[in-house]
Amino acid sequence: MDRYAVIGQPISHSKSPVIHALFAKQTNQSLSYESIEVAPAALAEQLKIFHAEGLRGCNVTLPHKQAVAKLCETVSERAQLAGAVNTLVRTDTGWAGDNTDGEGFVNDLARLGIVVRGRRVLVLGAGGATRGILGPLLGARPSQLVVSNRNPWKPEELAEAFKAHGTIVPRTHLALKGDRYDVIVNATSAGHAGGLPMLPGRLLAEGGDCYDLSYGAANQPFCRWARSQQAARSADGLGMLVEQAASSYERWRGVRPATAPVLAELRGQMGSDGPCEPVGAHQPVYHHHIELPPQD
Ligand code: ATR
Repeated sequence: MDRYAVIGQPISHSKSPVIHALFAKQTNQSLSYESIEVAPAALAEQLKIFHAEGLRGCNVTLPHKQAVAKLCETVSERAQLAGAVNTLVRTDTGWAGDNTDGEGFVNDLARLGIVVRGRRVLVLGAGGATRGILGPLLGARPSQLVVSNRNPWKPEELAEAFKAHGTIVPRTHLALKGDRYDVIVNATSAGHAGGLPMLPGRLLAEGGDCYDLSYGAANQPFCRWARSQQAARSADGLGMLVEQAASSYERWRGVRPATAPVLAELRGQMGSDGPCEPVGAHQPVYHHHIELPPQD
């Protein structure tokens, strides 16, 4: 039986084994897919062992996405541009590195009907997650692509790194004041600590859409913000997770699984209908409740 794995540290939370098991069932293929915890110091040795053991492919997650690139025989152009590898494909003598995250992101936007072409797009954050989506995002031809960040130097560096592929306008969050965007993507990790970058009041144009690369609890702060901006659509990143997995699966198996039923199954298992449902007429109203000390 062909063997696959996802490697990272920590890894027990990974949904990749569930997703790939559903893909295998759906496409009638017999394979195994496990999650394996690998410490950074053991990465190089472990990849050699996996190769010797005959693994056909691996997904790579935190904290190995950057380091693993240096251990590959070849690295695809898109993975080089993303500065990270999330998919390893076995060759006779080693591993070919690829990155399906950006493709997964734009495929999920397409699935949701969120148009990029000709629209003003803002990406919040300038770390690894942002770097992974910028190539495919530029390829989708927005009228403007702005990257804003708390640390002002990082967007400048990204604009420089991607200049052969298109124009990225670097900004700080503060300097966004007065701007309007049609699509706002949260690629910061702030939601994992229950937070959100500090943003000027109104940023989303009428009819605009929001997308968060995070899902689950980490998506909640941005989801609430998107509602306060009256987003036409507000999506979390669970769809991207399934789409990037489908692209990896396709590279390994030569067949692309349908993603919608797998996403639905995953949401069912997580007990979530998608926290960021389309905004309709029945919007909850968020009152800012301030507790005042008792007055004498
Ligand atoms: P990832 O791989 O998730 O992108 P990263 O490379 O560490 O992780 O990048 C994290 C991103 O989230 C950065 O853009 C970071 O902003 P800074 O570069 O200014 O640190 C952003 N971020 C994380 N926590 C944040 C917070 N509380 N407010 C604003 N931005 C935050």
